[in-house]
Amino acid sequence: MLSLLSVALMGILLAADSSSAINLDINSVDSVSNAAQGVASNIMTMYSNTSEIPGLFPTPYYFWEGGLAWDSMINYWALTGDATYNPLVGEALLYQRGPNDNFMPQNQTTTEGNDDQSYWALAAMTAAERGLPVPQSDSALAVTWAELAQNVFDSQTARWDEATCGGGLRWQIFTFNNGYNYKNSASNGNLVQLAARLALYTGNATYSDWAQKVTQWSLDVGLIANEDGVVFDGFDTTTNCSSPNHIQWTASAGTYLSGAAYASNKTSTTFWNGIGFALYTNANTTFAPNGTLTEVACQSKCNTDQLAFRAVLARALANMRDLTLDSPVTQEPGCSVNNTKPSPSCADVGTIHASIDAVLKTSAQGAAAQCSGGTDGSACGADWSAFTWDGTQGLGQSLSALEILLANLPAVQRRTAVSTSSVVTGTSSNGTATSSNGTATSSNTTATSSNGTATSGVSSSNTSSSASASTNVATGCSASTFALLAGMGFVVASFM
Ligand SMILES: *[C@@H]1O[C@H](CO)[C@@H](O)[C@H](O)[C@H]1NC(C)=O
Ligand SMILES: *[C@@H]1O[C@H](CO)[C@@H](O)[C@H](O)[C@H]1NC(C)=O
Ligand SMILES: *[C@@H]1O[C@H](CO)[C@@H](O)[C@H](O)[C@H]1NC(C)=O
Ligand SMILES: *[C@@H]1O[C@H](CO)[C@@H](O)[C@H](O)[C@H]1NC(C)=O
Ligand SMILES: *[C@@H]1O[C@H](CO)[C@@H](O)[C@H](O)[C@H]1NC(C)=O
Ligand SMILES: *[C@@H]1O[C@H](CO)[C@@H](O)[C@H](O)[C@H]1NC(C)=O
Ligand SMILES: *[C@@H]1O[C@H](CO)[C@@H](O)[C@H](O)[C@H]1NC(C)=O
Ligand SMILES: *[C@@H]1O[C@H](CO)[C@@H](O)[C@H](O)[C@H]1NC(C)=O
Ligand SMILES: *[C@@H]1O[C@H](CO)[C@@H](O)[C@H](O)[C@H]1NC(C)=O
Ligand SMILES: *[C@@H]1O[C@H](CO)[C@@H](O)[C@H](O)[C@H]1NC(C)=O
Ligand SMILES: *[C@@H]1O[C@H](CO)[C@@H](O)[C@H](O)[C@H]1NC(C)=O
Ligand SMILES: *[C@@H]1O[C@H](CO)[C@@H](O)[C@H](O)[C@H]1NC(C)=O
Repeated sequence: MLSLLSVALMGILLAADSSSAINLDINSVDSVSNAAQGVASNIMTMYSNTSEIPGLFPTPYYFWEGGLAWDSMINYWALTGDATYNPLVGEALLYQRGPNDNFMPQNQTTTEGNDDQSYWALAAMTAAERGLPVPQSDSALAVTWAELAQNVFDSQTARWDEATCGGGLRWQIFTFNNGYNYKNSASNGNLVQLAARLALYTGNATYSDWAQKVTQWSLDVGLIANEDGVVFDGFDTTTNCSSPNHIQWTASAGTYLSGAAYASNKTSTTFWNGIGFALYTNANTTFAPNGTLTEVACQSKCNTDQLAFRAVLARALANMRDLTLDSPVTQEPGCSVNNTKPSPSCADVGTIHASIDAVLKTSAQGAAAQCSGGTDGSACGADWSAFTWDGTQGLGQSLSALEILLANLPAVQRRTAVSTSSVVTGTSSNGTATSSNGTATSSNTTATSSNGTATSGVSSSNTSSSASASTNVATGCSASTFALLAGMGFVVASFM
């Protein structure tokens, strides 16, 4: 590893001569696919170099990150067409499915949290939507990808806890684990996303109702701050969720955003469009203030888990672009939906999709430049704002880089379990595409819209709370909602 340091010091030289990734042409599908192929190969080499158990990456990588890795590798195949790794990926997912087919394998059960479990469920969901083939070695499999995801949904909704905080999913599953007395955005946001995707995939209204219920609870309790779409990390249940941990992570914001995008696609209600827009606006201003996605809470001090979080937000931004209808961006609340109000403050500043694409492109160019490290020039660093390798490498960096590259490839239609028409016209009891006012919009995001489109009046200048949150946390890289399983104090600055 000593050589890495000297390589880092010679970063400029390296950047000047090395890999094709640096010459990424962000507007070329082939160029982006090639860059993604290099990163995917790095991830799979890391896996085959170090893994002893199918599906798992060894220490320092926790269980959840394996789930995220397989999710990203399925997405890689779906968007590039490179099926090379599919058998290994399918085997990895299935090996960890556990005796009850809900991703609680016995080796993990005593340390597994709800968010760990749901990362695997989301990977199974991606496998279902993309039609990942079941590997030959599991040809007698009696369960489908979607059923694995449904089983996780069933086990988590059974853990919904109304004894404190008016509802919510706790972070941990077991009372004896640190974090049992914590209700966090990663667990609840992942449940929203899982439910929204199951709703779109199956057309079953139970899932739509839960997606809305968990989101509504998150708004009511203040895990998502109503007006500006800020997603906080979580709350202590022993004080009835009265005081949030204000730290913001890209993964938590991203998982709720993906949930809203899928839910809007199923039923374009004011509720979903409004919350999706607010989440997006906050994510854009908080995590990409200079146009590049950044883990603002820790930056160069991010721990192993945190380095992977941007993978989740990169995917979410692509989902927002691909699954929701575009709309104009207005700068001030009160601006009309059609931007004809003759006030300078209501100038049309483009569309949501264009704004998403701008961040995705800039970030991917930075990520590609980072993926020139290690002894073979294929390892990825984390600092997407710098165009020379930052000297770090690891699974989290590579997963984030892979997803930001994939987010720049053209969308591929997802599958559903039933015919498209029956999904679209499905009998969701709550909200249909024609609803002009939806339900339960305690988020203050509907003021200017008379239509169900994403025309929130959230002010892009109203970012004071996110700005101060990022200032706050920049002073110390504190509690990740993962990785606190080693008996350390809870929600402390253990990772500085
Ligand atoms: C895998 O191991 C080989 C041989 O030790 C090494 O050269 C290579 O850098 C490793 N690759 C990764 C991605 O860990
Ligand atoms: C559980 O751990 C044992 C011992 O390391 C290993 O042989 C087995 O493959 C593991 N099972 C899973 C599902 O990870
Ligand atoms: C706890 O919070 C919930 C939701 O905010 C509220 O409905 C409930 O009354 C609170 N319970 C106590 C004991 O304060
Ligand atoms: C809908 O999903 C729920 C939750 O998984 C399940 O209990 C129920 O059987 C499903 N309904 C139908 C008609 O499939
Ligand atoms: C609609 O959603 C609301 C809020 O989640 C819930 O209270 C209500 O029961 C739902 N209605 C039906 C018919 O499912
Ligand atoms: C954005 O740019 C400003 C000015 O260069 C800098 O102070 C700030 O740290 C940057 N923010 C991020 C998240 O990179
Ligand atoms: C996203 O943030 C950029 C600044 O990085 C800003 O210029 C742009 O207007 C924002 N987009 C939206 C839709 O708020
Ligand atoms: C739903 O997503 C598909 C792409 O999968 C897109 O073509 C369609 O326009 C979206 N529908 C809505 C209502 O956003
Ligand atoms: C669109 O602009 C016209 C004026 O040109 C205005 O009367 C109308 O209310 C606007 N629509 C919305 C939804 O604001
Ligand atoms: C929807 O809006 C209409 C008029 O704007 C109103 O009459 C109706 O009560 C509203 N419905 C709901 C569910 O808020
Ligand atoms: C909605 O926003 C308006 C104007 O910004 C404010 O007066 C009102 O209190 C807000 N309502 C809620 C429920 O936050
Ligand atoms: C509402 O949306 C429809 C369809 O997109 C459009 O034709 C109509 O002009 C919109 N109404 C207003 C008031 O913006």
